[in-house]
Amino acid sequence: MKIAIAGKGGVGKTTLTGLLARQMAEDGYRVLAIDADPDANLASALPLDQPGPVTPLAARTDLIDALSGRGALPGGMVLLNPDIGAVLPEFRRSWGGGHSLLTLGWHKGGGEGCYCAENAVLKRVLSAVLPGATDVVLVDAEAGLEHLSRGTAQAVDAVLAVVQPGSRSVETAFAIRELAAGLGIRAVFPVLVGERGPNDVDAVQSTLGDWPILAHLPWEDAIRRADLEGRPPPIPESFRPALRRLILTLASACPLEHP
Ligand SMILES: Nc1ncnc2c1ncn2[C@@H]1O[C@H](COP(=O)(O)OP(=O)(O)OP(=O)(O)O)[C@@H](O)[C@H]1O
Ligand SMILES: [Mg+2]
Repeated sequence: MKIAIAGKGGVGKTTLTGLLARQMAEDGYRVLAIDADPDANLASALPLDQPGPVTPLAARTDLIDALSGRGALPGGMVLLNPDIGAVLPEFRRSWGGGHSLLTLGWHKGGGEGCYCAENAVLKRVLSAVLPGATDVVLVDAEAGLEHLSRGTAQAVDAVLAVVQPGSRSVETAFAIRELAAGLGIRAVFPVLVGERGPNDVDAVQSTLGDWPILAHLPWEDAIRRADLEGRPPPIPESFRPALRRLILTLASACPLEHP
């Protein structure tokens, strides 16, 4: 199953991706986490097996050019199915005792054209990566789902639209749902992160109307402290029921063999 985690800036996407990845790993899934946010920091939310700097795939424009044919094909064309299998192991980082992390790290600078070459590579990453070694792919996406708007979306089964207590992040969630629907993704679930009690949950639910919150995770000071100290957030015991509920719903929304 391939899940994108999207939402307004700062709502808790990376934290949720890290927690979900680790809960899934503990539950027996083999997890590939993909950091598709230009401001890549998913590595900091995962217990890397070996410390050290993380090299994003985007840092290797030579490789992306070579793989996608960018610059070599006429009229700015790129290959839609670049053969990336051979280079991925070089960029894969291992976490949690053998699970995988790929950091893409690309962004479109002011005045630059499209993400075409990068998207062609991402599409291949999503659809062909590490076959046989992955049950779940979690993509920490940026707010606008830009990475999913150019053909990569067919490879995504479901989207988690992260919201925090507040109406603006809910507006973004609606925009994400619309964009996802336009891409043919119907399984879009709101997840509330950082709530401070039933009043928050009720208020957000009433803004969402008949779109039910799939899971809500409370504000937890241990998570904030871990971030301050540069450690991956611990999984608070109080989060486990919500995380498991999320996993069960995602599993039933996606075609998959369960461990
Ligand atoms: N449940 C929580 N309880 C307390 N703090 C949290 C919780 N979830 C996230 N945070 C904190 O909120 C901040 C933003 O979280 P995070 O980086 O995961 O958001 P993001 O949506 O990925 O942000 P960005 O859009 O910048 O990528 C971080 O400092 C994180 O530690
Ligand atoms: Mg983030």
